[in-house]
Amino acid sequence: MFNLNNILRENIKRLKPYSSARDDFSGEASVWIDANENPFNTGVNRYPDPHQRELKACLAQIKGVKPENVFIGNGSDEIIDLLYRVTCDPGKANAIVMPPTYGMYAVSAEINDVAITKVFLREDFSVDAEAVLAAVNENTRLIFVCSPNNPTGNLVPIDVIETIASNFDGLVVVDEAYIDFTTSESAVSLIEKYPNIFVMQTLSKAWGLAGARVGVGIGSKDLLAVMDKVKAPYNVNILSQQVALNSLNDIEAFNAKVDIIVEQRDWLSAELSKLDIVEKVYPSDANFLLVKFKDTANLFQFLLDCGIVARDRSKEKWCEGCIRLTVGTPDENEMLVKALNQYFI
Ligand SMILES: Cc1ncc(COP(=O)(O)O)c(C=O)c1O
Repeated sequence: MFNLNNILRENIKRLKPYSSARDDFSGEASVWIDANENPFNTGVNRYPDPHQRELKACLAQIKGVKPENVFIGNGSDEIIDLLYRVTCDPGKANAIVMPPTYGMYAVSAEINDVAITKVFLREDFSVDAEAVLAAVNENTRLIFVCSPNNPTGNLVPIDVIETIASNFDGLVVVDEAYIDFTTSESAVSLIEKYPNIFVMQTLSKAWGLAGARVGVGIGSKDLLAVMDKVKAPYNVNILSQQVALNSLNDIEAFNAKVDIIVEQRDWLSAELSKLDIVEKVYPSDANFLLVKFKDTANLFQFLLDCGIVARDRSKEKWCEGCIRLTVGTPDENEMLVKALNQYFI
């Protein structure tokens, strides 16, 4: 049975967080002399709202949850690090990842001196829930499930996530960075039923704000309260909060761009499949394609020589010969196909 108290580090439970006057006061004042700011207006002379109240309210509405279930980080990468810092005793705790998957789960674990247990995906990139659960031991605090998975592009079915969550007493972190490129159900629908499911999304992908660094976590209020204690007080800067709000308020522009990317993904997939140098284009629910090529190393260099930077994934398990290609603008995708048509082994 999941009990948050059982997975939190003792020092974090005891932690009295830094508090500022603005933790308690969020209204309009005529004189702000609480934070040693410079009073002359530069647009950013004030500290940002440490609780990102406006942004959370807006995201909560879009995601169909309450603001108290929304956490905002300096990118999902900050959230991954926070999850380790809150739950994992360095040198003792471990986390489970399912390679081939997003590399930061393991890097962040290493930084925090947390052991990683790898349970590889099956050859068809599906999750082996039984093997994952068999790898759990008393020091396992986190299981990372990436859906759609990077770099393989496939979704993890909701019932597989439920199976893992209902048989594990730690946190299941479902990374949905690419969820907006599919119409499939998000694991956000599970957070009420499973307090040990924490969903990560991001504004870096479908929302087009990678440079603003806005990561979104959706989970239980109790877990979020602990994460709030540990995060840097002003972890999301004022410009990023503003830019995020502007984008979130323009759902039409968002939908239009996502539609183009999804349509282009399918076009690119069809075009690549016609090429002799392509062995396989994997299906994708994300904004990238994993493609198995013949003669990958030379091809990768050829693309670089053409000024096209892709991601070589050929050293990853089950990804021998694979390059990951992000879907670009229609012009960029055409340039890619044109370049590949000029490559001969
Ligand atoms: C699966 C996955 N999660 C998270 C991230 C990082 O997200 P953010 O930009 O919010 O840190 C990426 C970036 O490539 C990713 O592929």
